[in-house]
Amino acid sequence: MQIHNNTSLKPFNTFGIEAISKLFASFSSTDELGEILTSKQAKNNKLLPLGGGSNLLLTQNFDGLTLKNEIKGINLIKEDEHHYYIEVGAGENWHQFVLKSLSNNWFGAENLSLIPGSVGASPMQNIGAYGIELKEVFWFVEAMEIATQKIHRFEKSDCEFGYRTSIFKTKIKGETIIAKVGFKLNKKANLNTSYGAIQQELETLGIANPTPKDVSRAVINIRSSKLPNPAEIGNAGSFFKNPVVSKSVYEEILKAYPSAPSYPVSGTEVKVPAGWLIETAGWKGKTIDNCFGVHKKQALVLVNYKDATGQEIFDLSSQILEDIHSKFGIELEREVNII
Ligand code: FAD
Ligand code: EPU
Repeated sequence: MQIHNNTSLKPFNTFGIEAISKLFASFSSTDELGEILTSKQAKNNKLLPLGGGSNLLLTQNFDGLTLKNEIKGINLIKEDEHHYYIEVGAGENWHQFVLKSLSNNWFGAENLSLIPGSVGASPMQNIGAYGIELKEVFWFVEAMEIATQKIHRFEKSDCEFGYRTSIFKTKIKGETIIAKVGFKLNKKANLNTSYGAIQQELETLGIANPTPKDVSRAVINIRSSKLPNPAEIGNAGSFFKNPVVSKSVYEEILKAYPSAPSYPVSGTEVKVPAGWLIETAGWKGKTIDNCFGVHKKQALVLVNYKDATGQEIFDLSSQILEDIHSKFGIELEREVNII
């Protein structure tokens, strides 16, 4: 076990923000994690579990112990008539896991291609994209309780998955470190191409009878066309969640903007794309000091072009929150974890 002092977190967050972690350790097994958690440094400091750093904003140096998850392994555990059951180490890269699944003909995660980050963080906010959420391919989580170093198993019904949320981000936030995630993937392809742009992209590719690999390719193409690649422009994907509002609030918006988009949620509520609200309020493409701002192609994504501080990006997000509230009466909620 090695615990390092004063480590730069810049290479470990996709916003590319400079911040120093007072203490830093990585672990590649639960035994190693247990050893670190019983150390004096872990007991006396706050902890920051870290995967790929693609859903967090570091607003200051971290005065604690960062724990980088490097637990690896992708193993087929069992199968039945319709499914394969796979266990994956939390430190595996999510997209590489999706690609490996496809090459093994394990289906169901194809729409979640190219989401950055680790497998271990995927249950945190029940990652979702292009009509699918993690919970649809999820089997279980094994997580170490920080206080006791005991491993707990969470079945799907324990996880309280919702839109960009789970029990790990709410009720038991900060209490466990996810070590392993189990997946239940399909033997037979059951494609979901209903998300508008997928069908259109498959047509552009000239594919009439798509396979799961084709759907993955289509999703990769769509994502690459509008989301900034963190290797080129610092960002953490959607900065805010899409707000769910009552139909009466939406009807007020429609009076001023008859073509305002929405997605049905229930008989009384709709989801309004935050990207539309932010673009309509005039923020899309706004750049501050040539340094950071709102992405040109996707208003829901805040970007760090150069050497912005996390605090500057946080302040920009606060200005956007206030502006959307004053213009539309809607309270946006940040999706990105603020550290
Ligand atoms: P990190 O950023 O490292 O951590 C996120 C949070 O989880 C932190 O609070 C951290 O402390 C905690 N955490 C991390 N690992 C563990 C663990 N093992 N145990 C306990 N806590 C842990 N998300 C979507 O849902 N859909 C998308 O389409 C999508 N697109 C994106 C596109 C881009 C370009 C980017 C940059 C991000 C996008 N995201 C998307 C957000 C991000 O990729 C996901 O939230 C991803 O699951 C984060 O994984 P990570 O390993 O990078 O997490
Ligand atoms: N829109 C605009 N202007 C913009 C951006 C979006 O008007 O600049 C409107 C358009 O009406 C568009 C609609 O918003 O049709 C939806 O846009 P898009 O398909 O790009 O998706 P999104 O709602 O902005 C969500 C997720 C993404 C996920 C995509 C695809 C959230 C917060 N974001 O974005 O997830 O990849 O759908 O399913 O739910 C993430 O969580 O980090 C993330 C990138």
